[in-house]
Amino acid sequence: MNRDDFPMLDSDISFFDNGATTLKPKCVIDSIVEYYSKHTSNIHRGDYDASVITNKLYDETRDVVCNFINANSPKEIVFTSGTTESINMVVFGYMKKHLKKGDEILLSKSEHASNVLPWIKLSEEIGTVIKYIPLNEEYELTVDNLLKTISSKTKVISIAHVTNVIGDVRDIEEIGKICKDKDILFNVDGAQSVPHMKVDFKKSNIDFLSFSAHKMLGPTGVGVLVGKYNLLEDMDPIKFGGGMNQFFEEDNSYELKNAPVKFEAGTPNIAGVIGMKKAIEYLESIGMDKIHNYEMDLKKYMVEELEKIPNLVLYNKNSNSGILAFNIKDVFSQDSSIYLNHYNIYVRAGNHCTKMLKDEINIRNTVRVSMYLYNDKNDVDKLIKVLKQSKDIFKVII
Ligand code: ALA
Repeated sequence: MNRDDFPMLDSDISFFDNGATTLKPKCVIDSIVEYYSKHTSNIHRGDYDASVITNKLYDETRDVVCNFINANSPKEIVFTSGTTESINMVVFGYMKKHLKKGDEILLSKSEHASNVLPWIKLSEEIGTVIKYIPLNEEYELTVDNLLKTISSKTKVISIAHVTNVIGDVRDIEEIGKICKDKDILFNVDGAQSVPHMKVDFKKSNIDFLSFSAHKMLGPTGVGVLVGKYNLLEDMDPIKFGGGMNQFFEEDNSYELKNAPVKFEAGTPNIAGVIGMKKAIEYLESIGMDKIHNYEMDLKKYMVEELEKIPNLVLYNKNSNSGILAFNIKDVFSQDSSIYLNHYNIYVRAGNHCTKMLKDEINIRNTVRVSMYLYNDKNDVDKLIKVLKQSKDIFKVII
């Protein structure tokens, strides 16, 4: 699908590390080059021609993101540096202000560090309590287990929509309904879902949704926090500075602008926001359902072929995303990824920043293949062929 649009694919690589970051199409790269070479200017500060172009592109991105994830209004779209910053903003800007000692936050052990560590830090600071929703035998989070973990003290459910190692797709619509009924805040890490499938902020009754541009064909260092507007109004910034204030005076008085601007202190990643707009337009020109179905067909084919290889252990062959975690029996995952690199196959190996998953799957490190729209059957065939020869792995890498 559209491989020619991706300059990195001019070389003979099979890029299967899309959970970590994705390749950029030429239109995204061009939009950034154009900003730096034709209309460099800050936003909302200049009255000259270049600045008018830049303002327009920057402001339009809020509308594009709003439509893409079906938020209520562009005012609910906050530009951040990525998912990690977005979740930190929610935890320290909203939750710290509204939660109290003993309030319970539900997570799972397959969450990425960015959706665990801020909560641990918050517990340290104000005495909130983290509870982990048990996973099922396929290491997936089920609505039943979630319901069993909710108590009268549960104030927040904070989970990934799609996890970054197991790749299970959580039923966020159902969970959103439960949260609404029980008056629980619903914080969703969309880093691994928003790039790959249709995510509907309104329909899923999400309170806060975070994602990163670089995992969806856009530039690094830019992402989004979507928040229900009444919550954003009641949330404090964790960064203060230019652009976000109405005034400040010698007597320490000050007034901030309204959301989303009050969260965007300082000069933002303007080139990043412009590149993200192009990336979303590119994804929409293909269609998110088409992208998801394409990845699922490719994964089905890959799993069928990998299952024929006797010395592989697959951990999540049934998960409904393009992520597959495996190991070559008795081989350290990083040795496997070095071996695959020898054939220009790029994967990620290790614990993937999901350091508590070991408690559930009894293994610390895996090799992870994560697909995207430019992967094709040739990539998969190459991976299969090389894994079939993996009994020779140490001859190749030593
Ligand atoms: N969160 C990214 C990953 O899963 C970096 O690889």
